[in-house]
Amino acid sequence: MAEKTTKKTMKREREGSPMRTVSLHHFHDTENSQSLDVSCSEVMQEEYGLYVWPCSVVLAEYIWQNRQRFVGSRVIELGAGTALPGVVAAKVGASVVLTDREDQPQVFENMQKTCDLNQITCEMQRLTWGQWNDKAFALRHPGQVVLGADVLYASKDFDDLLATVKFLLLGMPDSVFITTYQPRSGHRSIEYLMAKWGLQCTQLLDAADFLPASKLSALSNSVELVEVKSHN
Ligand SMILES: C[S@@+](CC[C@H](N)C(=O)[O-])C[C@H]1O[C@@H](n2cnc3c(N)ncnc32)[C@H](O)[C@@H]1O
Repeated sequence: MAEKTTKKTMKREREGSPMRTVSLHHFHDTENSQSLDVSCSEVMQEEYGLYVWPCSVVLAEYIWQNRQRFVGSRVIELGAGTALPGVVAAKVGASVVLTDREDQPQVFENMQKTCDLNQITCEMQRLTWGQWNDKAFALRHPGQVVLGADVLYASKDFDDLLATVKFLLLGMPDSVFITTYQPRSGHRSIEYLMAKWGLQCTQLLDAADFLPASKLSALSNSVELVEVKSHN
């Protein structure tokens, strides 16, 4: 396996109030002498979607390490927030749709800043879990990778999230949902809900299995990654 080094630095800049931060995320593969730097705009406000959560650092690293899989693929990120995984997927060659809940205009403004910082174009769509409209139907595609970092954090929303995941995967051959979460969310309830929604876990990894040491040491809690497909 390639040795990977990681560096995360933060650059703060005041643009009036609230304070914006740009975090820098480094991805490296010494074996192939390849690297990638991604900048994420963050806003110091009490809104979950305005800063980078550890689960998205883990999911972004997984995408980087498995980047061949994402070249030319179609990706949709749920509850994207600052969108680090989606941006990495776009950078390695995926066509990406970034989504978040529809009552969060500031999250979308911030996402656009991140896309601009990284000189990428991503489609953005308001998508609240458990709610459907015509635009949501257009998001269903075979062979699509659905991403979600730290979207299993509030148990009251688990059913709505998994209903949306099921909606996106049902009848779509080879589409999968890849998500990272902190086990605080409750393993048993997630397993129970997956079975309830006809979803099946096909891979389970601990962040410690693949995260470079420098990124692992920055995690204060364990993070797990699961890949999920629909029974039909
Ligand atoms: C803990 S944050 C994670 C953000 C980002 N994925 C990360 O890991 O940095 C949860 C994200 O889910 C979004 N979210 C929460 N409830 C939602 C809902 N019902 N429908 C759609 N998005 C939702 C929030 O706006 C936020 O961006």
